[in-house]
Amino acid sequence: MGFVIAIDGPAAAGKGTLSRRIAETYGFQHLDTGLTYRATAKALLDAGLPLDDEDVAEKMARAVDLGGLDRSVLSRHEIGEAASRIAVMPAVRRALVEAQQAFSKREPGTVLDGRDIGTVVCPSSPVKLYVTASPEVRARRRYDEIVADGKPADFEAIFADVRKRDERDMGRADSPLKPAADAHLLDTSEMSIEAAFQGAKTIIDAALKKA
Ligand code: DC
Repeated sequence: MGFVIAIDGPAAAGKGTLSRRIAETYGFQHLDTGLTYRATAKALLDAGLPLDDEDVAEKMARAVDLGGLDRSVLSRHEIGEAASRIAVMPAVRRALVEAQQAFSKREPGTVLDGRDIGTVVCPSSPVKLYVTASPEVRARRRYDEIVADGKPADFEAIFADVRKRDERDMGRADSPLKPAADAHLLDTSEMSIEAAFQGAKTIIDAALKKA
């Protein structure tokens, strides 16, 4: 069984960048579990299927190939919106959690990031990080990214979207977003990604020594 680093937090908190950097540093495989929900949603949208039929959505979830996940084709706003709708369905979550747990067994170790890794997917992980930032800071970062890409952006719309996504992720009955009891909190509101990475590294190095 490999060493599992569980990283959770709300949308746009910097989890993705941090997770990729940690995986690279330790030579671990990385799974962005949000992409499994996004791939399921995209398959439904592409096939013109409804987003509110749990049996159909579960079938799509069971067909997701973890090897073929690519954020660049799954990043569209409608896909994220659809993903957050199907993520409330217990049968969809069960199917994707099983695939994520199989991934977490890979050697020598893995980094999984999402919303429920420390609480549901890998509750016995020796390192759990909860990466967060205020909604304003997260909306600002997303806005800056879009502008840096040369695209038009509306801060108020992005801010409203961040809050709506938070409500859905934190308010759902099955596996709501929350820190595990033994998670280390990393609030990146006033911290650079570099400082967050150094904080995470200190925690991981200490856990690896004990493993
Ligand atoms: O992180 P993201 O925006 O790619 O995630 C897309 C949606 O999937 C998000 O609304 C929450 C959901 N999700 C989840 O419920 N559990 C996870 N482990 C990862 C993502």
